[in-house]
Amino acid sequence: MARGSKLAGAGVLACLWVAGTASAQGCPDYSTYSTQPHQPLSSGSFQLGYMRPDPGCRTFNLSEVESTIAAMAGSIADPDLYRLFLNAFPNTLDTAIRWKGTAADNPDEELTFVITGDIDAMWLRDSANQMQSYKSLLKASTDRNSLASLYRGVINLQARYLLESPFCNSFQPPVESGIAPATNGAATDDTVTPPYNASLVFECKYELDSLAAFLEVSADYFSATGDTAFFGKFNWLAALQAVINTATSMMTPTYGSNGTVLASPYTFTRLTTRSTETLANNGLGSPVAAGTGLIRSAFRPSDDSTLLQFFIPANMMFSHYLEQTAKIVDKLGSTAPAALGAHMHAFAAELREAVLHHGIVPDPNAGEFAALVYAYEVDGFGSSIIMDDANIPSLLSAPFFGFTSISDPVYQNTRGAILSDTPRPGPAQYNSNPYYMHGPVISGVGGPHQGPGYAWPMASIVRILTSDDDDEIVDQLQMLVSSTGGLGLIHESVNTFDQNTWTRQWFSWANGLFGQMILDLKERKPDLLKMSYQP
Ligand SMILES: *[C@@H]1O[C@H](CO)[C@@H](O)[C@H](O)[C@H]1NC(C)=O
Ligand SMILES: *[C@@H]1O[C@H](CO)[C@@H](O)[C@H](O)[C@H]1NC(C)=O
Ligand SMILES: *[C@@H]1O[C@H](CO)[C@@H](O)[C@H](O)[C@H]1NC(C)=O
Repeated sequence: MARGSKLAGAGVLACLWVAGTASAQGCPDYSTYSTQPHQPLSSGSFQLGYMRPDPGCRTFNLSEVESTIAAMAGSIADPDLYRLFLNAFPNTLDTAIRWKGTAADNPDEELTFVITGDIDAMWLRDSANQMQSYKSLLKASTDRNSLASLYRGVINLQARYLLESPFCNSFQPPVESGIAPATNGAATDDTVTPPYNASLVFECKYELDSLAAFLEVSADYFSATGDTAFFGKFNWLAALQAVINTATSMMTPTYGSNGTVLASPYTFTRLTTRSTETLANNGLGSPVAAGTGLIRSAFRPSDDSTLLQFFIPANMMFSHYLEQTAKIVDKLGSTAPAALGAHMHAFAAELREAVLHHGIVPDPNAGEFAALVYAYEVDGFGSSIIMDDANIPSLLSAPFFGFTSISDPVYQNTRGAILSDTPRPGPAQYNSNPYYMHGPVISGVGGPHQGPGYAWPMASIVRILTSDDDDEIVDQLQMLVSSTGGLGLIHESVNTFDQNTWTRQWFSWANGLFGQMILDLKERKPDLLKMSYQP
C-alpha cells in the first residue's frame, strides 16, 4: 500500500482490487509511480513532483490538451498551482484510457474502456465525469484519435453495460479488448437481485446517479458537437429506454395500498463488517413511502449505502440530465420511438417538482430563522438526513450539475448548513453537516466512505466551482495546493491534520475535476490565477 495512505476502509479494498497489469511494456505501474514525487520538482515552496508518465507511457494523446497545458503556463502565476494543474488535468488521458477499439460485430461502433485509476474497472459515474473534464475542448470530429471519438466510445460502452445490467455501477473490460476481467473480492460475497454476470460486471450497486451519468455524458457530447446522428445509431436509444425503465421501476414504494410488502426490483446484501457496504431489511434498504414521485437509490455516489432511499442529489441530477437528453430525442424526430421525448420532458418536470415538494426541509439548527434547506436523503414518511458527502452528485454541487443556480435561496441556506464556516443568517457558526471536517491542513466536506477526520479535495473543488466569492475561492485554492503531501496530485481524501496521510494516490476523476475547475476560473476569474499561493 502506498506511502501515506490510510490502512483502513475502502482504501484497502481498492488495493486488493488492483490488477497491476495496466502498463505498457517497460512502463511503471502508475499505482506505484504516483506514490513518489518525481523530478523536476516545482519551484515554489511546496516542491511538487512532476507526476505525468513519460510520453511513451501515456494512454492517449490529444494535442489540444497539450496546447492547453502549455498555454496555461501564461495564465497561472504560482509555480506550485501550475504544477498541480499540469499533473492533474491530463491524468485521465495519461493513465486511464485502458483500451480503445471497436465492437466485434460493428467496426463503426467505437468503444472506450476508461478505468477509475487504481481500480481496473469502468464506473458509469467516474467515466462520464472523467470525460467531462475535457468538455471545454470537445468539438465535432470523425477522427478516431479525437476527443469526440473517446466520448463516443464511452457512450457506446456505457450503453452496452446498461443493456446488460442496468442496476450495476461498475463494469469489466469489453471482451474485444482481450483484457481479463478484474477480480472484485468483495463482490463474491454479494447476494443481488437481479443476478448479474461477473465476467461483465465488476460490482452491482444500484445507484441512481450512475443512470444519470449516462444521460450526462450523452448530453455533454451532444451540446458540444451537435452530432445528432450519432444518437440514432448503435444501441443508444435502447440503453436510454433501459435507463428510464430502471429508474421508473425504482419508484416502487415499500408497501402497497393494503399494506402488502411490494417486491423491490433490486435487493443487495454483502457479507461485510462495514454497515455502508450492505442494505438493511435483508437487502431492501430502509422503507420509502408511496406517492412521492421520487426515485429510490440503494447506494450513494460514494458507493456507500443510503440511509434513506430517496437520495435527493441523484434525483436532482437525473431530472436535470433527463431534460437535457430529451432535447436529443426531440432532434432525432422519427428515428426515436413516438412520444419518448414528450415522456422524458414530463418525467423530468415531475421529478423536479417531487424534489422541491419532498426534498426541502427546515434546518432545525436555524432556530428562529427557520431556514429551508435541501435534505440529503428523505423517506417520504417525514424523516430526513441533513448532511452532505463530497462525491458528486452532492447538495453542494447542485448548481454545478445544473439543477439550480447559486442564487437559489434554498441552495444558499443549504450551502451554509453544509459548510460550517460559511457566514449565514442565524446563530453564528453552527454546523448542520456531520461530515464537515476541520483541521490545520484542510477543512472541507468528507463522508462516511473514509470516515471522520478525512476531508475530500473534490468537495473543495466543487466549492470553488459554485462560488462567486473571491476570498472563498482563494482560500480553497490555497488549501488544495498545500495539502498534496508534495505529490502534486489530487487525492481522494486527506487527513485534516496530516497532509501525508491520504487515500487513493491514483483517482483520475478528482484530478480531471481539478483541471476543469482551473479552466473554469480562467474564464470567470482570471485574476485569481495571477495570484501567489505561496505560504
Ligand atoms: C503518445 O505520444 C508519444 C510520443 O510523444 C508516443 O510515444 C506514445 O506512444 C503515444 N501514445 C499513444 C497511446 O498513442
Ligand atoms: C457471462 O459472460 C461471458 C462473457 O460474455 C460469457 O462467456 C458467459 O457465457 C456468461 N455467463 C452466463 C452465465 O451468462
Ligand atoms: C393487496 O394488494 C396487492 C397488490 O397491490 C395484491 O396483489 C393483493 O392481492 C392484495 N391483498 C389483499 C388481501 O387484498
